[in-house]
Amino acid sequence: MKTLAQPIYLDHNATTPPLPEVVNAMCETLLTAYGNPSSGHRQGEPARRLLQRARETLQSYLGTPDEQFVFTGSGTEANNIALRSLARHGRCIITSAIEHSSILSSARRLQAEGIPTEVIAATAEGEVDLLALRQQLLAHRHSAVSIQWINNETGVNQPIREIMALAREQGALVHIDAAQAIGKIDTSVEALDPDFLTLTAHKFNGPAGVGVLYARQPELIDPLCVGGGQQNGRHAGTENTAGIVGLQRALELRYSELHKAISHMTALRDTFEQIVLDQCPWVYVNGRRDQRVCNTSNLCFEDIDGQALVGRLDSLGVYCSQSSACTTGRPEPSHVLRAMGLSEAQAYASVRFSFGVTNTRQESELAAATVAAEAEHLKRIFS
Ligand SMILES: Cc1ncc(COP(=O)(O)O)c(C=O)c1O
Repeated sequence: MKTLAQPIYLDHNATTPPLPEVVNAMCETLLTAYGNPSSGHRQGEPARRLLQRARETLQSYLGTPDEQFVFTGSGTEANNIALRSLARHGRCIITSAIEHSSILSSARRLQAEGIPTEVIAATAEGEVDLLALRQQLLAHRHSAVSIQWINNETGVNQPIREIMALAREQGALVHIDAAQAIGKIDTSVEALDPDFLTLTAHKFNGPAGVGVLYARQPELIDPLCVGGGQQNGRHAGTENTAGIVGLQRALELRYSELHKAISHMTALRDTFEQIVLDQCPWVYVNGRRDQRVCNTSNLCFEDIDGQALVGRLDSLGVYCSQSSACTTGRPEPSHVLRAMGLSEAQAYASVRFSFGVTNTRQESELAAATVAAEAEHLKRIFS
């Protein structure tokens, strides 16, 4: 096949391009509101106001009962703080085998420090095993649960209400990693009422390097960074005002047209998937199809090397990925797909395509035709 005239970016679960309005708002902030928000003089005032506005925007769109947000340097950092805070309160950490590496690595570190940790299994459809969760909650009187809302690799929407209900029944604290959920589903955080919740701006067309940890009871936070008393002592370090403004603007843009964005991404993903599955009936979808977030398609190209497919697509101008971005480059099969029971070969044969609001229908169709043709070509070579 010929290289595409314009590359097609289908890796929005790894990161999304910041929208021009976001970049403009950030540049404006760097030029005019460069003061330190902690400064007592007048140059600190605009930065303080912008941080406050970002907190108000977060509260109004997420529907949290208050403005208890800690700005962090990433979703990874927010997840680390959440787990550390849960452990600090003498809790056994219960998490699942399909979490993001920032949770699983934090849990492993806490376990090495003597904190009891349980990692529960997932079902073949990519959902957290609720029975296993219940058993662990019953086995550990003082526990805390950390579960993601949407899986970053398969896009499977976890049974978060049931998870919250089970945890609350046993008096457990709950952290939700909502990094892949915010801006892609229409649900109020208030209805769930978690103790902690993580989000990160670069998954909804904001800048990378800006995360948020919502804390229902901020006094539970065990700070990762100590130093100055910024953010009420909960996260020391001068705030990244421009980045936080970028997050605020991205949130505003996404939530002002949330339903439109969701329908757009759903249509692109479904069109893409339909074409690939029609042309390659031997390909199948990983994860429960009717429970997926709008933008993600994780496909198993049985019997072919997914890495080879990703490489060929890259050279033609279709950008997608295997496993999660944080672990690409490491020659290991996806821990998520393995936890769902896929064999090592099936996990290696799987590729994730994730759409964004900036993709078009034409891109979706062209990418699907390219993927199908390349997959058929590789299938002939491998068989
Ligand atoms: C579910 C999930 N949690 C956490 C993160 C980490 O976010 P960040 O890239 O901002 O560190 C990611 C990023 O891929 C993610 O998908």
